Amino acid sequence: MTVDDQLNDPAFFATGEHYRLFDTMRVKDPVYWTHSPDGRGYWSVFRHADVKTILNEPTLYSSEREGVAPVVDVEMAAIVREAWGVGKNVAMIDPPRHTEFRKVIAAPFLPKALADGEARTKILIGEIFDQLPKHGEIDLVTDLAVRIPMAVICDIMNIPSTDWDEMLDWGKMAIGGTDPEYQQGTAAETISRGFRLLYDYSDRRASERRGCPFSDPLSLLANARVKDQPLTPAEVAHNAVQVILAGFETTRNAFSGGVLALLEHPEQMALLREDRKLLRLAAEEFVRWSDPVISLMRTVTADTELGDKQIREGERVMLWFPSANRDEAVFDRPYDFDITRHPNLHLGFGAGPHFCLGGPLAKLEIRLAMEELLERYDGIEITGPVLRVQSTFVGGLKHLPVRLKPHVATH
Ligand code: HEM
Repeated sequence: MTVDDQLNDPAFFATGEHYRLFDTMRVKDPVYWTHSPDGRGYWSVFRHADVKTILNEPTLYSSEREGVAPVVDVEMAAIVREAWGVGKNVAMIDPPRHTEFRKVIAAPFLPKALADGEARTKILIGEIFDQLPKHGEIDLVTDLAVRIPMAVICDIMNIPSTDWDEMLDWGKMAIGGTDPEYQQGTAAETISRGFRLLYDYSDRRASERRGCPFSDPLSLLANARVKDQPLTPAEVAHNAVQVILAGFETTRNAFSGGVLALLEHPEQMALLREDRKLLRLAAEEFVRWSDPVISLMRTVTADTELGDKQIREGERVMLWFPSANRDEAVFDRPYDFDITRHPNLHLGFGAGPHFCLGGPLAKLEIRLAMEELLERYDGIEITGPVLRVQSTFVGGLKHLPVRLKPHVATH
């Protein structure tokens, strides 16, 4: 398989072999022209410094021209613009309009709002742990890691718990549609269907909230004015879908990937059990280590130079986060999983104007979920095959079968 075939193949990223490929490419050809099945090709960007530069220059590297989701085949290109709402969704709008859209949804995710809601988030997470079977044989991904962020983001969005299971299924289709396990038809059909169902749902809920004085993001969107104009129904729904998907499809991977890393590095688990204050630093290392966002795309708006390459207006760049986050130019011993790593300059939450709005929420969820896990269980052991999602975009574990051993009361 050629390098180009590997980079275009969702199944390759489920093998974990991409880290080795990236190590080679950072040295050999850090800005690499990659042929893609749609015939257009793109520049693969592997180094931390180049990825960071691109994220910080939104005028030169646009999120809006074609969106940020990697689109490398023809079938996918036809649906993705429509599905993601390029030009309407905060993540796919360039400044200065982007700044106005971001303001609309920011309030519930600011540290003060999260601190006020922390007790409620803890209760929600506790309830999910309460539902685990007493025998302790679980799939840590499907029973815990996907449910926690789903419950938290739906609660913030004021989406009733009777709808959460459906949201989970639709989210898996929208984001994991390149994985055969989640497919209904082709990858493109699956992704398109997942987005359509989420969009219709959000559109329905938003119209119920027009004129209501609630402060959840869906109501904020439904009643917002940007430059004195209300958002269009499509802008409202696409942004709601963005928040819902960003809220749970990434955090699940950071939490489950972090737990797996702790199981594979028992000395780090012991350190964390000894000193729970390390959880804040550990949450950052979970994100660096697990790389929930594998790649993002940008389109170049004027001829420029990157590394030693000439890039032309209209060409696309693909930012490879697992590569940037293991770049030895920035990280000491990048292949050590180290929950005391500080500073931890990973780009897992992005950088620049589109820097993840939900980063503090994701870290809060990881910290509370880990506290709960350590509090309730003495031991965790892997009992079956660990499987990763087939995706070049947002990925991580899809199954992590474990046995949880509850604390035995000593008196
Ligand atoms: C570990 C979990 C998470 C990771 C790794 C992650 C990663 C990212 C990344 C890399 C970006 C930048 C996208 C770009 O530059 O094009 C981003 C943006 C965003 N994230 Fe997250 N995210 C996580 C959790 C969350 C959560 C819990 C929310 C819930 C609100 C969220 C909401 C958003 C939104 C709304 C944006 C778009 C911001 C903008 O364009 O201004 N994310 N995220």
